[in-house]
Amino acid sequence: MKKIFFVLIAALFFCSCQQDAPEPQAISLVPEPVSISVNEGAFAINAKTKLAFQNLPDNSNLQQYVLENYHKFFGFDPIVKASATRNVIMFCLNDKTNDEIGEEGYQLSVSKKMIIISANTEAGLFYGFQTLIQLAPGNVGVEQAATLGVPCVNITDYPRFEWRGSHLDVCRHFFNIDEVKKHLDVMALYKLNKFHFHLTDDHGWRIQIDRYPELTEIGAWRVDRSDVPWGEAEPAQEGEECTYGGYFTKDQIREIIAYAAQRHIDVVPEIEMPGHSSAILKAYPQYACDDFPYDIAIGPYWPPKAILCGGNDSVMVFLKNVIDEVIELFPYEYVHIGGDEAFKDNWKVCPKCQAKIKDLGLNNEEELQGWMVAEMEKHINAKGKKIIGWDEILDGGVSSTATVQSWRGKETAIHAAQNGNAIIMSPTEFCYYDYYQDIPETQPKAIGGWVPLEKAYAFEPIPDSLTAEQAQFIKGGQCNLWSEFIFTYDHAEFMLLPRLCALSECVWTPKEKKNYEQFESKIAAQIKLLQQLGYHPCTTIGPLEQPVPAEEK
Ligand code: ACM
Ligand code: ZN
Repeated sequence: MKKIFFVLIAALFFCSCQQDAPEPQAISLVPEPVSISVNEGAFAINAKTKLAFQNLPDNSNLQQYVLENYHKFFGFDPIVKASATRNVIMFCLNDKTNDEIGEEGYQLSVSKKMIIISANTEAGLFYGFQTLIQLAPGNVGVEQAATLGVPCVNITDYPRFEWRGSHLDVCRHFFNIDEVKKHLDVMALYKLNKFHFHLTDDHGWRIQIDRYPELTEIGAWRVDRSDVPWGEAEPAQEGEECTYGGYFTKDQIREIIAYAAQRHIDVVPEIEMPGHSSAILKAYPQYACDDFPYDIAIGPYWPPKAILCGGNDSVMVFLKNVIDEVIELFPYEYVHIGGDEAFKDNWKVCPKCQAKIKDLGLNNEEELQGWMVAEMEKHINAKGKKIIGWDEILDGGVSSTATVQSWRGKETAIHAAQNGNAIIMSPTEFCYYDYYQDIPETQPKAIGGWVPLEKAYAFEPIPDSLTAEQAQFIKGGQCNLWSEFIFTYDHAEFMLLPRLCALSECVWTPKEKKNYEQFESKIAAQIKLLQQLGYHPCTTIGPLEQPVPAEEK
């Protein structure tokens, strides 16, 4: 009798659980996890669902993040109850290291009774939580939260690459602190972990440097040509006021770094040198080769002629002073020192540059840039940090301790690997999200190029021409979002999304698990989630090959 009674109660309880958990949405996880098995049934997230944090320090970063964001993603107020054993989402730091999942991996187990996310680190728990958001996105952006069904699954997951980056150019057009945070949020959703913050360029200097206040007082502002397409903007005219621009104060940078850190994202500041320096030279013309009146570039510029003088010792003092303030501000171990597209016409005719080449016994202007990079690297290393540079830093000879960001093609990656450099892959062909993603006539004006979603997905960070030994130098991959043609952050989102989803599978998912058809079938759900979160993704998918325009056929 007792037994029957128990069975009856259990059956009633089981039924109520089943009723509580509505049919879950179809599973659409990006990036695709290493392994997932789907079981019968669902867990119900409702207003009474508890959160438990085990083995974590009091008020851990992870706990703070979950409590601050739970309502946004799940629609209910968080209730913490460490002792809960039912209707609970448990975050558990492993007592004993699980070698399979490593530093960033996690395991996620959903049963009808509870959800357990376990990991060796807070980063792993964080990524497990991002997966949970995608498993049950039903309450994102809704007015009235309804009980959510989370499919019963067992997931084991960990990344393929340590470097999973996203770059944002805030110089050509300026995006504010809230927009940068939104960028970090979407990076986190797709388990990306390096934010390459492109802070200085010809079109604006965007970071407060106390020792050189004119960098922002003058260098952050230009004549407003926002009403003209970028390619048609004219240089500033005599008497026009500089009203377009902006920059980040040191306090704002600290806020961005803290926001990123809570999302397990390292912020990599980029300070361009010696080229892309119009904004510096407008503020401090004494650092140019000649007394040509420099102005901040507006709209098209090519080739970018502005370059810091390589023969003037005070330029190196300036650069080191700037970098010292940058290093003090950014905790991450890497500083990006640019180095791309440094057109050296001025150096060829500058007496100081030519004298420096002679004094140092160098062969040419490329080697003068190589010398500048080496000087900066020594200085930065002495402060306990390491440099990254665009792949042009290889051209003048570079130490093997610099990290090279390959963008011009895989030959540069091969060159870097032969030189023994660590490499971040961001080839234009696959990773430049300022390029068109769909037929140009249907799109807002872009810089050109062709990277539809399928092309972005075809990105393989390890070029097939590398030997297995050379492949070890590849740290991972990154997409770059240059903002010449991107006037607003909404438009930046349109260019970034959903291509960022493609990047995330390229750098997280095991190579053998990548599958474009399956990926494309997940995109509608990702677009819906992104829109509910307030993003503006592109909602069409361009063909892999760009159709030839009718007039060129
Ligand atoms: C670059 O695209 N100039 C690095
Ligand atoms: Zn010079």
